[in-house]
Amino acid sequence: MKVRKAIIPVAGLGTRFLPATKSIPKEMLTVVDRPTIQYIVEEVVASGIDQIIFVTSEGKSAIENHFDYNYHLDMVLKEKNKTVLGEELNNISNLIDIVSVRQKKPLGLGHAIWTARHVVGNEPFMVLLGDDLVLSKKPCAKQMLELFDEVGESIVAIQRVPASETHQYGIVEGEKNDRENTYRVSRMVEKPAPGTTDSDMAIIGRYILMPEIFSILDTTTPGHGGEIQLTDALLALTKRRAMYAYEFEGTRYDAGDKMGYLKAIIAYGLLHPQLGKPLMEYIKGIVTGK
Ligand code: UTP
Repeated sequence: MKVRKAIIPVAGLGTRFLPATKSIPKEMLTVVDRPTIQYIVEEVVASGIDQIIFVTSEGKSAIENHFDYNYHLDMVLKEKNKTVLGEELNNISNLIDIVSVRQKKPLGLGHAIWTARHVVGNEPFMVLLGDDLVLSKKPCAKQMLELFDEVGESIVAIQRVPASETHQYGIVEGEKNDRENTYRVSRMVEKPAPGTTDSDMAIIGRYILMPEIFSILDTTTPGHGGEIQLTDALLALTKRRAMYAYEFEGTRYDAGDKMGYLKAIIAYGLLHPQLGKPLMEYIKGIVTGK
């Protein structure tokens, strides 16, 4: 079965990034020349998905507006002969079919996904977190879709983290599978207390899920932090059918965290065709004091 739809939950409060996120969604913070959410939408488009479902909340309309056609701006750019810029902006709104559903209360990531159940229907779907950027040769979503074509079961993207950081993530345990960088999941736990797991495989913001997850979320009760945790529902899903953890090729940046965001700006800036070289010179100057 083909994965045609991607949920991008953007209804979180972004408290780690206050005061910047008091009136601006964290997904609209800029990395070089575009908001972080645009990189994620571009990854989805480059991976061949047909539809994006934003799970939004109060105060997040800037995200929907960003991907909408802006008639006034288009006219002004045409009058000023800035057609290339105008076309680039229109391309964003033409990239893909986008719909949104509203999460009325921030009850957790699991609840945010559940809110999109009627739009997804009874088919496998992808989830990409609105603040998790992955810089890679092949889009991370595409790598996962290729694996899905082979295994036809749920997949969570993982990265290795130091033992001192496992308590900040959902952690999976599992056995190495025949396919490269792939593990069959046996257990998972949200933000484990230090010393309670030997695994260093941390779940990042990319998932392909079977639709059974929705009926599991129907009855998932609040877990860690009083929120309906996706990880708890995923664990229940592993008891019903196979799930794979995939160590993707690429580097992930948590752009919802101050340090992760700064790293993303530097990494994406250094790769920029015009800005990369002067930025490197500038950084060298700071480091060497010259
Ligand atoms: P985060 O853990 O980053 O939470 O959520 P947050 O509230 O956005 O940010 P902090 O921790 O307060 O700084 C992971 C993802 O799940 C979404 C967020 O938008 C983010 O993409 N989310 C989280 C929801 O859509 N709804 C929720 O109730 C919680």
